[in-house]
Amino acid sequence: MSYVTSQQEGSILLMTLNRPEALNALNAQVLEDLDKALDGVDLETVRCLVITGAGDRAFAAGADIAAMADMDPEAAAAFSRRGNAVFRRIESFPLPTIAAVNGYALGGGCELSMACDIRLCSENAVFGQPEVALGITPGFGGTQRLMRLIGMGKAKELIFSARTVKATEALEMGLVNGVYPAEELLPAAKKLAARIVRNAPIAVRACKAAMNEGVDQAMDEAIVTEVREFSGCFASEDQKRGMQAFLNKQKNIEFLNQ
Ligand code: COA
Repeated sequence: MSYVTSQQEGSILLMTLNRPEALNALNAQVLEDLDKALDGVDLETVRCLVITGAGDRAFAAGADIAAMADMDPEAAAAFSRRGNAVFRRIESFPLPTIAAVNGYALGGGCELSMACDIRLCSENAVFGQPEVALGITPGFGGTQRLMRLIGMGKAKELIFSARTVKATEALEMGLVNGVYPAEELLPAAKKLAARIVRNAPIAVRACKAAMNEGVDQAMDEAIVTEVREFSGCFASEDQKRGMQAFLNKQKNIEFLNQ
């Protein structure tokens, strides 16, 4: 039994956090299973990941509070390091990732969604970093990624106040890219994934690498990063196929991931 299930549909891999009895709260085992699920991704055939939560109430309602209640600072540091390592792995994963946020995305749930490249959510989604109400800080990247996504002022407001936001407000502040009725969320995430996987996979990966690296670089250095990724594409078969197809007025070409 794993707390994370993976289901491949063509070149899209749907990963589901599967601990609905605890609103998919993230304990050490869930983190371990998430890491193992990433180990299991076949980079030859998968071109996009969609991550969601089991049940209709939560994406993930946070790090597991019962598991954290008796931790001392040392155990807490190990837990935070582990969660951060897994989420950093998702953020830097060599494939585009979409979080399909189907309900509560609080604490670690919000942090997991922010480690993904793109967030879509259902109308009943609720986002927030309510950790200070429990006497702690966010510990799986929340103090760092929320401000990068929505800006320092808004991020401080949400984190200091522990205020949660519903889907429409999350959309307004740029925390999510789209809001859908619950039953349309996964189809919408898969539709977006399907659009992404039609494109040259090496180029998509290179865009992700350039953007992830460049966001923390000064512009002069960031341009060097772009030149590296841009030029790297010209060593691929798919660059030749893509450009020849355009010049030959061919539509709907298949990229080879080579
Ligand atoms: N850690 C551990 N267990 C959690 C959890 C978490 N972060 N979030 C929910 N659960 C468990 C509850 O303890 C409950 O278990 P039980 O049925 O064995 O009592 C079950 O999931 C259902 O949650 P419940 O609180 O009964 O549902 P609700 O509809 O009344 O409230 C929430 C939903 C999300 C508002 C509420 O569960 C909550 O506030 N969760 C914690 C959110 C949070 O602070 N996250 C940040 C953690 S750092």
